[in-house]
Amino acid sequence: MVDKPLFTPGPLTTSRTVKAAMSRDLGSRDTEFIRVIRDLRNSLLQLAGVSQADGWEAVLMQGSGTFSIESVISSITPPDGKWLVIINGAYGERILKIIERHGIAAEAIRSAENKLPDLAAIEGALGGGGFTHVAVVHCETTSGIMNPIAKIGALAKEHGCVYFVDSMSAFGGLEFDFAGSQLDCLVSSANKCVQGVPGFGFAICRRELLEATEGHARTISLDLTAQWRGLEGNGQFRFTPPTHTLLAFAQALRELDEEGGIAARAARYRANHDACVAGMRTMGFTEFVPENLQGHIITSFLYPTDDFDFDEFYNRLNEKGFVIYPGKVTKANCFRIGHIGHLFPADTDALLTAIRAVAGEMNLSLSPKPA
Ligand SMILES: Cc1ncc(COP(=O)(O)O)c(C=O)c1O
Repeated sequence: MVDKPLFTPGPLTTSRTVKAAMSRDLGSRDTEFIRVIRDLRNSLLQLAGVSQADGWEAVLMQGSGTFSIESVISSITPPDGKWLVIINGAYGERILKIIERHGIAAEAIRSAENKLPDLAAIEGALGGGGFTHVAVVHCETTSGIMNPIAKIGALAKEHGCVYFVDSMSAFGGLEFDFAGSQLDCLVSSANKCVQGVPGFGFAICRRELLEATEGHARTISLDLTAQWRGLEGNGQFRFTPPTHTLLAFAQALRELDEEGGIAARAARYRANHDACVAGMRTMGFTEFVPENLQGHIITSFLYPTDDFDFDEFYNRLNEKGFVIYPGKVTKANCFRIGHIGHLFPADTDALLTAIRAVAGEMNLSLSPKPA
């Protein structure tokens, strides 16, 4: 059976060998499985360009990526903590919602979904004092905009705040200076740019942060420090681990390495993105995010006409064997095309051919632009 390629933000198309790695049943206390977990945690640190010797830890947490974000927030915030959340999309809003649900103090600085955060406003807010933590989303998958995490990190550190980055859709698929971004904690998940399958997320954080926050956790199952102590102690998860997902992830990490690491993967994703945007523009589609702010992870395209029927467009593409994604921005009608996962420029070319055919079938009145 051949699955349709997923031009989505995740779960993503994975390689046959990643899927095949799951066809084993390992016990959660099996020494082989414990070795897999240990190696995997080390590989994640290596990917980030840090190490345990430098004071960094990789903590794996069951669930989707949001569970890891909630684990971090609800575990590392002391009772008198206060977050500044930088928001330009739905995932920034979600961070704020999690903080507020735990009864933790927070304020937000919002900018439009196709604009960068206002650094002067952030500086002003931090200067007002009282903030202990700053959070921002790396690639805001809502639109595909890439946020300036190093610049925000510098401001957070100037004001003595713990700095948290949701790099769910970017980590592993984008080169960036981890140490230079001054972050204290980053979260991503198994089924994004490392190209594993869903089932767990991970936090890469400073050990001193985990130690300093001992006892602050507001939940049992999402207690980040307890999870870390468990993984460090007997090498095991505290509760049933997603064994098959972890085996797939170990294979996905090997394949990332074989591809040439993050630089090579980012180059492939960029090639997917460039081919997609060039082809879509030629057909007459327009991106929502200005070109200089757009990342190569996912692109939002504006509906070409006011009466554009996205469901019909989606279904017709689906019938031709391609899966794209609805929009998520609030202020404009968009749909999204993802560039990540086990996809190559030839897949993007095939998608463009299908889009061209569907546009013809639907008699879309597009205004093609020269390439
Ligand atoms: C930036 C970002 N944050 C958080 C999430 C939520 O991850 P999950 O759906 O795995 O909980 C996503 C999912 O696409 C995302 O792109």
